[in-house]
Amino acid sequence: MQLHQSTWQEIDAYLAGSKGIVLPIGSTEQHGPNGLLGTDAICPEVIAKRAGDEAGFLVGPTFNVGQAQHHMAFAGTITLRPSTMIAVMVDWTASLARHGFEKIYWFNGHGGNIATINAAFAEIYGEWSLKRAGGNSVPVRCQLRNWWELSGVDRLCKEMFPVGEGSHATASEVSVTYAAYPDEVKRVEMSPKIAPNGPILDADDYRRRFPDGRIGSDPSQATPEKGERIIAVASAALIADYRAFLAAS
Ligand code: NI
Repeated sequence: MQLHQSTWQEIDAYLAGSKGIVLPIGSTEQHGPNGLLGTDAICPEVIAKRAGDEAGFLVGPTFNVGQAQHHMAFAGTITLRPSTMIAVMVDWTASLARHGFEKIYWFNGHGGNIATINAAFAEIYGEWSLKRAGGNSVPVRCQLRNWWELSGVDRLCKEMFPVGEGSHATASEVSVTYAAYPDEVKRVEMSPKIAPNGPILDADDYRRRFPDGRIGSDPSQATPEKGERIIAVASAALIADYRAFLAAS
């Protein structure tokens, strides 16, 4: 069940049975010569949709622009300042809390978002912690989960891509997007075959070190079939992890 494809009456009815929602969160940033700009948003979105359809839980709209400052030397990348992203996450959460949602599971597709998501959680909880009465008694609980950390996902990705998985524009994330959008598969010869590794500094330095955008990867190995295998494992693990979050006090 997806929030943006529901009516308000359907959300009202859903809230009578569950106070939880999964929010995919990602980024719009370059993903090398054959990866889509939306990769980090598409991955959590398609995994969450699969899991939500199977298990009957609600999936919210994708928060699809995040922390992409270091990709800004590549066309098409869009970024938020950390302070902007925190403010928007606080407002999304407050909106959902007003309707009665109490458990918000932020399902992340971009490593660069992690610090800012945790800072946003501190900002959300701070509203209540700073009050004298009822301090630390928060009406909303947030959880961050990165899709690639779900049980079984890392093992499967290493098994399918023992060489050239890399750390940006990875073979596995590109595969997931190809499974979601098979018409967008790009056949590109990688040069060098495996991209260099190195530190991430500012945007211009990133482009000098990693001229085509990849870090350590050979995403020409990506296929829709491999992506489908990842989605199947990840969505099953997401269902279990989200249920544990709902059950936790
Ligand atoms: Ni990515």
